[in-house]
Amino acid sequence: MTSSFPPAFRWGVATSAFQIEGATTIDGRGPSIWDTFAAVPGAVAGGHTGEPAADHYHRWQADLALLADLGVDSYRFSVSWPRIQPDGRRFERRGIDFYRQLVESLRERGIEPFLTLYHWDLPQALEDAGGWRSRDTAHRFAEYAALVHEELGDVVDHWTTLNEPYPCAVAGYGEGRHAPGAREGHGALAAAHHLLLGHGLAVQAMRGQATPQHRFGIVLNQSPAVPVSGSAADTAAAARQDTLLRRQFTDPLFGGRYAPGLQAMFDGVSDFSFRLDGDLATIGTSLDYLGVNYYYRLHCADAPHRQPDPALRTAADIGVDTTRLPDVPRTGMGWPVEPEGLTEALVGLHNRYPGLPPVYVTENGCVYADRSDFADYERITFLNEHIEAARTAVAAGVDLRGYFCWSLLDNFEWAHGYKHRFGLVHVDYATQLRTPRSSYRWYRDFVAAQRN
Ligand code: FCB
Repeated sequence: MTSSFPPAFRWGVATSAFQIEGATTIDGRGPSIWDTFAAVPGAVAGGHTGEPAADHYHRWQADLALLADLGVDSYRFSVSWPRIQPDGRRFERRGIDFYRQLVESLRERGIEPFLTLYHWDLPQALEDAGGWRSRDTAHRFAEYAALVHEELGDVVDHWTTLNEPYPCAVAGYGEGRHAPGAREGHGALAAAHHLLLGHGLAVQAMRGQATPQHRFGIVLNQSPAVPVSGSAADTAAAARQDTLLRRQFTDPLFGGRYAPGLQAMFDGVSDFSFRLDGDLATIGTSLDYLGVNYYYRLHCADAPHRQPDPALRTAADIGVDTTRLPDVPRTGMGWPVEPEGLTEALVGLHNRYPGLPPVYVTENGCVYADRSDFADYERITFLNEHIEAARTAVAAGVDLRGYFCWSLLDNFEWAHGYKHRFGLVHVDYATQLRTPRSSYRWYRDFVAAQRN
């Protein structure tokens, strides 16, 4: 196949620390908010926890062999903050040592490490001090980022601050579906702001000690919001959803302003007093790339607030019903399969923000029920269609530099526990046996063909 992807286009896979590592009490690691949350009865399906996950902490060499055989040139993974600063402050050298051996081995195999500093595993000690509601956490994050960057800057060039601040803030502090399980209005909006502030402070701190080849970016989930009808009410509902999920983050990062309309949406819920002079400039610190995670579009209908009393409203309650799905195929998680949403997300960003940095698709993937022979043809179709949708965005002028499939391995899918499997490689959690699915071989052949 002739590729219309740029010549240096990167093909990779992605994982995150808490979802694959296990070993949650090994080598000085402290508890994270996900350890605490998973211990709450009913919080995670099946009562599952971060143990054993894919036991990657002990099996990373076998996993690197899988990566090498897959033939990808890039690997996106995250560093577990509570391995590096178990109590949010004290430095634990054994944590850094683990990631150093990992990235050195990646480099030996010619695989470029894309390091994410925060994929949702806040040290519990920092949550106890207020978590992301607290401005101090933004400063702690910048300190941690500078520390990891100082330690690994000689072997890592691609530095991502945050993975998806939206669910951190809204699922974590608004809906209570994710750690730390809070249901707040003001607190969740403050969390979103402090995540962005922490991002900006971290980039500034790392740039101060960077070498010229270092690149800094952030990863955002981008689910385009589509109204279920042409009515003014549904259109307004989709706009509210877009403001909460996307523009709350992209406007300050790339548009030099807070999202218009956000404050009005939460009138009486928050006074936004967490926004201080100068924050916008810090958040808007220039970036070298944006990572886009795409899984689905959100179909939005106007819905009356379930909690009309502003004092009781959470940041998740914006009067939008997203359950009215169109008649399209769904994945095993029920997510609508709409590859055109990826094109729409990429082209939409490109059109909305003239100064947008180069973009990577940093996550895209799906879940389907397994067959006994692990012939996951639905996943192959899904990936193929989404890669084509990315190609369409390139043709439309988007400066897209790479695509990472989520995920290399089956892993801990947050509140769903181990039930939903996103891996190109099946993991038997009882034996930790890895079995590549058909999609692994398909992606290997696809990536190889792109190079010819
Ligand atoms: C994304 C997360 C990732 C994974 C996928 C399915 O929102 O970044 O960790 O759980 O969803």
